[in-house]
Amino acid sequence: MLDRSLCSLVIIVGIEIKNNPTTLTSLTILTTIMIFTSLSPNTEADDIFLALKILISPWLWVKGRAVKELENTFKQWLGVKYVFAFSSGRTCLYVILSSLGLSKNDEVLLQAYTCVAVPNSIIWAGAKPVYVDCEETIFNMSVEDLKKKITPKSKALIIQHTFGRPTKIDQLMAAAKENNLFVIEDCAHSLGAEYQEKKVGTFGDASFFSFGRDKVISSVFGGLLTTNNRELAEKIEARQNSFEYPSRLWVMRQLLHPPVMALVKLTYNFFYLGKIFLEVLKRLSIISRAVEPTEKEGGRPPFVLKKMPNGLALLALYQFQKLDRFNAHRRKIAKLYDKELKQLDIILPQEKKDSFRIYLRYPIQVNNPKMILRAAKKEGIELGDWYSSPIAPQGVNYEKVFYKLGSCPVAEKLSGQSLNLPTHIQIKEKDALRIIKFFRSANVKTPDILI
Ligand SMILES: Cc1ncc(COP(=O)(O)O)c(C=O)c1O
Repeated sequence: MLDRSLCSLVIIVGIEIKNNPTTLTSLTILTTIMIFTSLSPNTEADDIFLALKILISPWLWVKGRAVKELENTFKQWLGVKYVFAFSSGRTCLYVILSSLGLSKNDEVLLQAYTCVAVPNSIIWAGAKPVYVDCEETIFNMSVEDLKKKITPKSKALIIQHTFGRPTKIDQLMAAAKENNLFVIEDCAHSLGAEYQEKKVGTFGDASFFSFGRDKVISSVFGGLLTTNNRELAEKIEARQNSFEYPSRLWVMRQLLHPPVMALVKLTYNFFYLGKIFLEVLKRLSIISRAVEPTEKEGGRPPFVLKKMPNGLALLALYQFQKLDRFNAHRRKIAKLYDKELKQLDIILPQEKKDSFRIYLRYPIQVNNPKMILRAAKKEGIELGDWYSSPIAPQGVNYEKVFYKLGSCPVAEKLSGQSLNLPTHIQIKEKDALRIIKFFRSANVKTPDILI
């Protein structure tokens, strides 16, 4: 019976393909293995195995020794005096800022072309975010615009190393010093990057790193903050002690993320199975979102005021051992893009001699990013769109985060031209060549540059 049904199905599909060749194209697309830029990019088979092992050991989920071990490992690796783990990078930033005793009239400078988690942390800490524009083609803060935006109310400066490219640390630090600003390095994209042969995260008065799902290494959620300032460290330690652990349910949802995402990716294009599966899991809140809807309105989700749980620290510790291999791989893939895409009408990131970039993603500028995103998807390539708005993701209420449209024209322009190519460990050379081939055949145009 089953044999006969299968036979009939094959015959029907065969006749359909013979009569209508576009069906074959559609079927090929529906079964092509997708290339992803996002969706748990750092997860390898052993990470899935570890997550499953922790999932079936609930006594490991919340409390344990892994958090201290992660903090100590990191302290040694970065060569700093104090390290504290929290439930996310935004928690770290919020804790640093709220330890500075800022008030409503105090201003904190940050760059536009950033994640909403950054201005939100300033708002949660009771201060006002003031946006500084980017440098053309760089994605990092403009020193000239910083100097214009500093006022007597400025108290702190957040410097971001976007996409793993160290910013102009010397010049930004000099401007900060002149104006007595507290400097925080946002190293969410740049774990392992170096500036003048020194690791980023060691220049500011404090810094933070993220282990979010799409970051350099990942424990789905989690972050570390570092400082050499004893007085600040004492305040932060007291704050860490006052926080509770996240609930068991929350930890379980994060631990489910690596195995579930592997399944989603495997079946993503298989007659839309993975895509549907992903949507259902999100709607049922079985897996978490990187940014909660309330954050787009300046709100603070409950997981922010939490310690890092043991289960996620175990994932982060395990991934930390892979850091050098991951970053070497990212650099190798970036080099291939450099070499093969330079003849095209695309603005590519330029390597700088004074810094060691880790290319969390390979950022390019085109003048028709939405069209390219759609065309690539049809070829089975999911490109990245960081950041498609000056305060990402799309849909942020600018008024609530104190952003005035038109105030950072370069960042706004960059966000209208940005695409990112994947460099993570799942991207083999043949995948990068598939992406390159796509760009060679696609209709990409060089965007205009603001003078
Ligand atoms: C530039 C930047 N800073 C800070 C953060 C916050 O990190 P986390 O997601 O760990 O809270 C993110 C990511 O969301 C980011 O992209």
